[in-house]
Amino acid sequence: MTKSKLSSYAPLQPPCGTARVLTKADFMAIMGLREVVFAALPNRQFLYPEDDDEGFVRAHLGLHGMSVGVFEHEQLIGFTNLTLPDGDSLGEPWLGIPSRRIRRHHALLMNGIVRPGFEGNGLHKYLIAERLRIAEADDRPLARVLASPYNYRSWGNFIWHGFVVKGFIRPYEPKFGTLLRYVMDMDARQKLVGRKETSTLVDSNDIEKQEACFEQGMLGFNRVMDGPTAFIELMHPTESPIEY
Ligand SMILES: CC(C)(COP(=O)(O)OP(=O)(O)OC[C@H]1O[C@@H](n2cnc3c(N)ncnc32)[C@H](O)[C@@H]1OP(=O)(O)O)[C@@H](O)C(=O)NCCC(=O)NCCS
Repeated sequence: MTKSKLSSYAPLQPPCGTARVLTKADFMAIMGLREVVFAALPNRQFLYPEDDDEGFVRAHLGLHGMSVGVFEHEQLIGFTNLTLPDGDSLGEPWLGIPSRRIRRHHALLMNGIVRPGFEGNGLHKYLIAERLRIAEADDRPLARVLASPYNYRSWGNFIWHGFVVKGFIRPYEPKFGTLLRYVMDMDARQKLVGRKETSTLVDSNDIEKQEACFEQGMLGFNRVMDGPTAFIELMHPTESPIEY
């Protein structure tokens, strides 16, 4: 992270509470919120603690990234962080990107969590917007996130912000085994548009069918709800995505 450019970064006003950049002094509050959120997850696939959870959180309080928190009456109710690689310090494959290709212009959007009881206030959408603002302030046009296809509230919010689904990745987490994730990108250098005549709606639980579409070069552009079922709208893009 280029600290000089981001040292004066101030989050915008959230839809509720107040927000600020988090520091090492907030470590215990972050871990406490994560514990509550993990315990309340309806599906373990939605979110998982990192293998070295404490190390991961600490590294995003100044070393390799930034964290933003939303507080109400001194209680942390929303938390997010993003990884800002400097181009050579991350040795592991990361969000589907082979390590040798992690570049200075990548911003990797990591956790976005909201305290149970505070959902539905737009906090997650706000936390996505903040991460994109930080990426922009740090001159990083390419934002990437991984989201579970089963967590339609989460990936729906990223689509709402203009992200497109590029395909699946199956990261292996030692504690949880193999996970399934959409790879979602937003590239400020290229606004991807779908060709409407190629549009097809697929139930987001139907992984095989989506996989076949991604293999043909289709991308996910929209979420369409039918009662409790989330469909993904896949289309061929009008132009090929810029190579990551
Ligand atoms: C998924 C999660 C981040 C959503 O956060 P949020 O602040 O409630 O999301 P938002 O309010 O910005 O928007 C979510 C959408 O779902 C709806 N929603 C969210 N929670 C809801 C609830 N409990 N009941 C009904 N609708 C709900 C919102 O109205 C909104 O709908 P819209 O897109 O049609 O407007 C939050 O529930 C959470 O932290 N879950 C556990 C951790 C997780 O899965 N994180 C994401 C992976 S990194």
